[in-house]
Amino acid sequence: MSKIPVIIDCDPGVDDSFAIALANSYSGFDIVAITAVEGNVPAVLTRKNALCLCDTLGLNATVGFGAEKPLVRPYFRDASVTHGESGVGTVQFKNPIKTPDSRPAWELIYDEAVKYNGELVLVAIGPLTNIATALRRHPDLPKYIKKFYIMGGGTFGNVTATGAKAEFNIWVDPLAAKEVFEKMEVYMVGLNATHSAAITEEDFDEMISLCGNDPKSNLIKELSKFSKFNSLENGQDNHIIHDALAIASLMNEDVVDFEDYFVWVEDNEEADNVGETVIDFNGQSGKPANCHVAMKVNQPLFVQMMKNMCKFYNENNITIN
Ligand code: BDR
Ligand code: CA
Repeated sequence: MSKIPVIIDCDPGVDDSFAIALANSYSGFDIVAITAVEGNVPAVLTRKNALCLCDTLGLNATVGFGAEKPLVRPYFRDASVTHGESGVGTVQFKNPIKTPDSRPAWELIYDEAVKYNGELVLVAIGPLTNIATALRRHPDLPKYIKKFYIMGGGTFGNVTATGAKAEFNIWVDPLAAKEVFEKMEVYMVGLNATHSAAITEEDFDEMISLCGNDPKSNLIKELSKFSKFNSLENGQDNHIIHDALAIASLMNEDVVDFEDYFVWVEDNEEADNVGETVIDFNGQSGKPANCHVAMKVNQPLFVQMMKNMCKFYNENNITIN
């Protein structure tokens, strides 16, 4: 079976790092590129983390630098409380060895999509600024994309500024998300799905143990420890490895059940639900479905995939660069 060419657009990010690591452990993917966007931490850090993740994971993908701020909205909040000051928890990456591609993320995505002639799968696990920019510059991009997955949105939110009506990735750049939903057929792995895939303390302990006892720091082990302890200490949701579920749903179609609905994004800054992905469950809009919404999750299967990934990296002895 030939490998699926994949581009991951991301804002690493602890759960983005898990997602990239999970994708890298799967022999069915050819990870063509990793593109970085502003989000969990400012672009300067998501860029560095994207390069260092490739160095550490031995991932031979092209890295593209993308947007430093949303399309029009200021970039006024990062998520370093959840992801640590560096964006990757307690991991301290050195300076990257890998260098970025000369093209901006949106040109790299378009060029690869054309090159793969309709076979490329695009997975966006950060704010949608890079994807919206690619679509503005290349309106024919959708015809070259086989499938487009996001981690974002869902039936509820996690941004307290909006009364938790908006999910973080959509809320960082609501205009970008609105444009993307209008132009692309989206597989939306949102918060309702990722919260159903929460990883328990015991499962994190098993993941940590499966990473092995090599004295050298192990990326997955450090990320797992951070996720477990941070969630316990702060009573936060980051024992949910949101972004990895989007990757897992692509690796194995038994992980997530999707249902088709019309979905639009509220981008009006004055609206109290700015950044919400509004799902037309009852068909009131009369508009055709444009989105496959993740509704049911096989949590045990997802957890098993995460554990298998830990074993993979233990066997391959991955050391943090
Ligand atoms: C999403 O927001 C980010 O903090 C995570 O990386 C994930 O992509 C969850 O709302
Ligand atoms: Ca993310």
